[in-house]
Amino acid sequence: VPLIEYKPASRPLPPEQREEVLASPGFGHHFTDHMVTITWTEDAGWHSARLVPYGPLPIDPANMTLHYAQTVFEGLKVHRRPDGGLAAFRPEENARRFQASAHRMAMPELPVETFISACEALVGQDRAWVPSRPGHSLYLRPFMFATEPGLGVRASREFLFVVIASPTDGYFAGEIRPLSVWVAEDYVRAVPGGTGAAKTGANYAASLMGQAQAVAQGCDQVVWLDALERRWVEEMGAMNLFFVYGERIVTPELTGSLLPGITRASLLTLAGDLGYEAEEARISLHDWRRDSADGSLTEVFACGTAAGVAPVGSVKTALAQWSVGDGRPGEVTMRMGEALREIQSGAAADTRGWMREM
Ligand code: PLP
Ligand code: COI
Repeated sequence: VPLIEYKPASRPLPPEQREEVLASPGFGHHFTDHMVTITWTEDAGWHSARLVPYGPLPIDPANMTLHYAQTVFEGLKVHRRPDGGLAAFRPEENARRFQASAHRMAMPELPVETFISACEALVGQDRAWVPSRPGHSLYLRPFMFATEPGLGVRASREFLFVVIASPTDGYFAGEIRPLSVWVAEDYVRAVPGGTGAAKTGANYAASLMGQAQAVAQGCDQVVWLDALERRWVEEMGAMNLFFVYGERIVTPELTGSLLPGITRASLLTLAGDLGYEAEEARISLHDWRRDSADGSLTEVFACGTAAGVAPVGSVKTALAQWSVGDGRPGEVTMRMGEALREIQSGAAADTRGWMREM
């Protein structure tokens, strides 16, 4: 789908103001000057690709997304390289997961190359928005939603795909501080056969009460257990989890009710490079507590695009509270995070072709 309409912003943010934003962007607060939109209709497929000024989209009050949540999204980052060039981390993987999410939500699949071209068009236009400070990046948020008006419960016959971009210095502001987590036992995020493996808004809506409970308990993030037995650790609100047993690292296997994270998959690969043994397995809440107490579980960390690699220092449930290791960021966590950051920033060789220049 070629860009058929190109309309640059008549009033982009002045460079001085942009630099102010880039000095301390936070996460998801500021957006670049442009966005890309592509329309899908049942009769014409994907068409009307546009690069236009960032701004509000018209919404019919009967828009199906507002009522029945037929929507999917992605999150990926563009990094500035030492030579000033730009590169996205594994955008093909995000494009493929976007297709899988769309399939689950009865939405049309956007071709992988169209997904990437849309990201490239936006990044090309808004290059000045890609931060150059270490650890900062441009977070791309591609998403798609039903645009047909109507209250009948069925798949929409029209969708809009949109890419917006937001400079960020990380999901958790400031330096690395171990997260405290709350294990949700009253609520579940996703069920077998449900939408847990899709990156769809409803999963995040379902997680909000659990996350609010975590905060009320004085914790940073919520951890979800499987819905049937309420026993097996699945993931956090917006990150996957890894359990470190000395030189062996274990992440919960993909059960269909947790998100197949791209950071998770990348770390499983990188673990071998660092000399660790990596595996996917079931881990129970009971194991987590017992193995923390006997010291065999040496570290726990969370990972995701927005937050990178973040240590987990302490765990709280309705009945118990414990810490992991000495409660401080562990060596394996730090090495894994560093290995990933070095590839993304261009400090280490990209031997697997993970970085795509933009
Ligand atoms: N789990 C959930 C629920 C998420 O929202 C995310 C973030 O994207 C992840 C895991 C990590 O996925 P990724 O590494 O692809 O960003
Ligand atoms: C990401 O890491 O890209 C996420 O999806 C987190 C986001 C929900 C804030």
